[in-house]
Amino acid sequence: MNVAVVGLQWGDEGKGKVVDLLAAGFHIVARYQGGHNAGHTVYLGDTKCVVHHIPAGIFHEGIEVVLGNGMVIDVIHLMKELKELNKWGIPWLNRLRVSNRAHLITPLHRYIETWEENFLGQGAIGTTRRGIGPCYQDKYGRRGLVLGDLLQDDWEARCDTQWRHWKTLYGPYDNVHAATVEWKEFLTSIQELRPILFDIVMQTDSWLRQRLSKGSRILFEGAQGTLLDIDHGTYPFVTASHCSVGGIPIGLGVSLRSVHHVIGVSKAYTTRVGAGPFPTELLDDEGTTIRERGQEYGATTGRPRRCGWLDLVALKYACDINDVDGIVITKLDILDVFDTLKVCIKYYINETETTEFPVRAEDLALVKPIYDNLPGWSKQTYGINRADDLPQNARNYIRYIENYTGRRVIALSSGPRRHETAWFEEPTNWVSKK
Ligand code: IMP
Repeated sequence: MNVAVVGLQWGDEGKGKVVDLLAAGFHIVARYQGGHNAGHTVYLGDTKCVVHHIPAGIFHEGIEVVLGNGMVIDVIHLMKELKELNKWGIPWLNRLRVSNRAHLITPLHRYIETWEENFLGQGAIGTTRRGIGPCYQDKYGRRGLVLGDLLQDDWEARCDTQWRHWKTLYGPYDNVHAATVEWKEFLTSIQELRPILFDIVMQTDSWLRQRLSKGSRILFEGAQGTLLDIDHGTYPFVTASHCSVGGIPIGLGVSLRSVHHVIGVSKAYTTRVGAGPFPTELLDDEGTTIRERGQEYGATTGRPRRCGWLDLVALKYACDINDVDGIVITKLDILDVFDTLKVCIKYYINETETTEFPVRAEDLALVKPIYDNLPGWSKQTYGINRADDLPQNARNYIRYIENYTGRRVIALSSGPRRHETAWFEEPTNWVSKK
């Protein structure tokens, strides 16, 4: 059976840990979208390891990982990640495959993004400024560079086409001129890195299909979250890729029939980085308590995350878009200190109450959340690894989520380490050990 792990909120749900937990039951872990805007954290003992492009499955011996055609790759950053893997003693050669049709992020993309974000001012998206959006713009503008281009003899001329394109369009502006030095450095780095690229870049879609036909099991690793999906998220305050489960067949070149089971990951509360509407956001001490207890600072940019109560209207929408088979709830312990917990069960908009999620950002910005109050459990749940050890009110909180969404909560992550997990349902039905 092949399983997908997707985020059900605005990213940062803890997918990295869930992928790491499940990976041992699979042969391959594959990412299908996004780039190094993601930051997936895994603890190896006490060592905190963060990967940005590389699937979190890399931390399991013998598992192969794929960076699919739906991804955008900053090759120089990817090489830094490989060096980190070396430092942590994780072998990657012959285990890591990158699609020859994944798109290449260049320094120009970062410059253009900075220029666009500055231009938008108050209306900025609050991106990670890693060039993700402009790289996808080049992809859909049908002028993008793909990793396979770097393996060709005329790779420099191909890169030059992009440079000339943007220089002509943005020529009068400082940004492109300022990028000249960085562009030259970029070409030099690519020249140095090409030998490694020859080892890892290939046509991953046909490789995956072959492996599937021979019975290999794949764990599909989503990045960001459903509410940041370019189509199904809170547009325009979204990322530029398909984070929801629909991105898998396109972003890897496998049949949609190869996705057998979908696990959604959600925090016990809500966070968001960057701009955009956030109905349950807490701008008071409670929000600060969640941020500090949850250490809610971006794994990629270090930015403080906006924090708020669990929004069940949004969560149910995300569950439905992905048709999830089960939910993993993370960071419940952060709520241990609250006497009363609020969960948003309806929105008030245009003088009516609704349980529909208005995806358009301008509509979502108008809603007022309607809450239900649930009693806290005033007891430490950090590190709990048996469902039976949970305080009754914490169980009630989980049951409430299940009843509202109509989906089962299969596990609770009670801390960042592998053993800090309580399964409500052992994953043996859909994860078979090798
Ligand atoms: P971009 O992906 O850098 O273009 O940023 C677009 C929006 O997605 C911004 O609000 C970012 O903060 C958000 N975003 C991108 N990647 C992540 C992530 O991995 N976690 C949380 N938010 C993200």
